[in-house]
Amino acid sequence: MHKIQVEDKEFEIFLENETINKRIRLMGIQMNVDYEKKCPLFIGVLNGSFLFLADLIKEVDIPCEVAFMRVASYEGTSSSGQVKELIGLPENIEGRDIIVVEDIVDTGLTLTYILKTIKEKNPASVKVASLLLKPSALKYEMEDLAYIGFEIPNEFVVGYGLDYNGLGRNLIDIYRATGA
Ligand code: IMP
Repeated sequence: MHKIQVEDKEFEIFLENETINKRIRLMGIQMNVDYEKKCPLFIGVLNGSFLFLADLIKEVDIPCEVAFMRVASYEGTSSSGQVKELIGLPENIEGRDIIVVEDIVDTGLTLTYILKTIKEKNPASVKVASLLLKPSALKYEMEDLAYIGFEIPNEFVVGYGLDYNGLGRNLIDIYRATGA
């Protein structure tokens, strides 16, 4: 089993890049169908979503726009339970079809806050695309979660944009903590 070390933690291979890319291709195809004749605005939630959004957008062939925003709510390997400020949300989203792009939904706290803020600005529609979802960690109702790459167990993962204390985002595969 392919293992790596990130700071003090050991991780083992979980989702290979090829598997991730295959899934993303299907998500893009689905979006092309769902947003036909529309021009969605993708809003990536930084930092974690940057690789996922980059690969996803390459599979989307309808007209679309891309923006990024940032929110900080997480420290180390457990949710701090506190969402801070939302920075960089595009100004004119009234009447737009928004697709919020997340790397992972854990408790759902971050997303709940993001969706509330976006909906206050009267977009035409809001959906969420998340590469990963930890269903057993979810604490909030998530009806806008339209596109999920993989449902995963409640374990800490790193790679493909996801970090452990800022490290590991450059790994092309996704790894999970071994608990060692
Ligand atoms: P939530 O608010 O609990 O849903 O946490 C969402 C955010 O926590 C994500 O956008 C990630 O930045 C971070 N996060 C949650 N689980 C993991 C993980 O397993 N690895 C790396 N980051 C994670």
